Amino acid sequence: MAAGREHFGSRFAVIMAMAGSAIGLGNIWRFPYMVGENGGAAFILVYILSSFLLSLPIFFSEAVIGRSTHANTFGAMRQLAPGTPWRWLGLLTILSPVIILSYYSVVGGWSVEYLLKSLALQFRTPEAAAGFGGFISSTWGPLVCHTVFLALCAAVILGGVKSGIEKFSKLTMPVLFVLIVLIMIYSLSLPGASEGVRYLVKPDFSKLTPSAVAAAMGQSFFSLSLGVGTILTYASYIHKDENLLVSGAGTAAFDLVFALLAGFAVMPAVFAAGIEPAAGPGLVFETLPHIFAKMGLASPWLSSGVAILFFITILVAALSSAISMFEVGVAYLVEEKGISRRTATLGLFAFAWTLGALCSLSFGPLSGFKLFGETLFSFCDKLTSNFLMTFGGLLFTLFVGWKMDKMRVRNELTNGGSLPMNGRLFGIIYFMIKWVAPVVIGIIFVTNLLL
Ligand code: PHE
Repeated sequence: MAAGREHFGSRFAVIMAMAGSAIGLGNIWRFPYMVGENGGAAFILVYILSSFLLSLPIFFSEAVIGRSTHANTFGAMRQLAPGTPWRWLGLLTILSPVIILSYYSVVGGWSVEYLLKSLALQFRTPEAAAGFGGFISSTWGPLVCHTVFLALCAAVILGGVKSGIEKFSKLTMPVLFVLIVLIMIYSLSLPGASEGVRYLVKPDFSKLTPSAVAAAMGQSFFSLSLGVGTILTYASYIHKDENLLVSGAGTAAFDLVFALLAGFAVMPAVFAAGIEPAAGPGLVFETLPHIFAKMGLASPWLSSGVAILFFITILVAALSSAISMFEVGVAYLVEEKGISRRTATLGLFAFAWTLGALCSLSFGPLSGFKLFGETLFSFCDKLTSNFLMTFGGLLFTLFVGWKMDKMRVRNELTNGGSLPMNGRLFGIIYFMIKWVAPVVIGIIFVTNLLL
C-alpha cells in the first residue's frame, strides 16, 4: 500500500461516495428519456436484470483490482500484470473518464444555468421555458456555466479523498434522496399523473428491439459508472476490512432506486402536461420547465419551488459523479508522475475545460464540424458510452476472470477468508465474472460496433 494514501472513513462513507459517482445525470437526465424511447417497463425490466447479472460482476471486478492494489488504474495494472499489455487498460481508463468529464460538465453547466433561472423565478411563463435550444447553441452562456461547474468539481477534488470527496458525498447524497422523493410526491399528485405511472409499469415488449436491449444494458453500465476506472479508483480508497460485496450491492441498490424515483418524478409530470414521453435528451431541460411554467400559471410559488428543488437535485447529482471522473486522472498523475494534487487538478481542469468548451460550441458555432457524422458532443458521448465503457468493462472482467489469481480474487471478496461467504456464492460470482459478463458484454460491444 502506498504510504500516505488516504482512505474512506467508514462503510457509510464508501457507499455514499460510490453512490455519488453512480447517481448522476445518467439517472435523472438519461434514464427517463431512454425509458420513454424504448418501451417503458419492458426497458426497465432489462435494465434491472442487466444491473444484477452484468453490472455487478464488472463492479466487483473493478473493486477487486482497486482494493487489492490500493493504487490508481495504471498503477494497479502494473502491479498485477507487470510488463504486459494490460497497462494499456490502465491508460485507457484514465483517458475515458476525462472525455466523459468534458461533455458531462457541459450538461452540468446547463443545470447551473437552469438553477439560476429557477432561482430568478423565471419558469413562470411558457416563453421563459422555451429557450433551451437558443441557450445551448449560444457561445458564452454555456461556456461560463461549464467553467463554473468544472471549477466546483475541482474545488472538491482539491480537498482530497476524506475532506473533499467523502465529506461532499456524505452531505449531499442523503439530501438528494429527500429532494427526489419530494419531487416525486408532487409529480404523482398532479392530475393525469396516473398515465405516466402506467407508462412506467406497463411493459411494451414490441419496442424491445435488440438495440433497445443493448441500450438498457449500456444505460446500466453508465449509471453504475463502470468500465472507466472510477469504481476501481474509489475502491482503492477502501480499507482492507470493508466488505466489498456489501458496498457493491449497496451502491447498486441506491443507484437503481434513485433511477426509479427519478423516473416516477419525471414521467407522471410529463404525462400530466400532455407531452410526448420520447422527447429525447431535452426532456429534463425543455419539457420540465414547460411543465413548471404551466403549473406556474396556477400556483407561481409552488412551481418555482419545485423547479428550484429539481435543478438543485440535477446539479448536485452531476457534481458528485463528475468528481469521481476527475479523481481517476488526479490519482494517476499524483501517484505515477509525482505531481502535487493541486497541479494535477489544475492540469486536468485545463484539459477537460478545453475539450468541454469545444463540445459546448458544437451545439452552436462549431455545429458544422463532424466526426463520423456526429457533432463533437455527441461523438464524445457515443464514443464513451457505446464503446469505451463497454470495452473497459469487458477487459476488467476478462482480467479478473482469466488473468488474476483465483485465490487472490477470493481473498479480496472474503477479506482473506474472514468474511463468511459460502463456496457456492463465490462460485456464482466468479462464474458471472469469468463467463457470463464477458460473453454478453462482448456481444453488446460487437452489436454497438455494427449498429
Ligand atoms: N454514473 C454517472 C451517471 O449516472 C456517470 C458516470 C459515468 C460517472 C462514468 C462516472 C464515470 O450520471
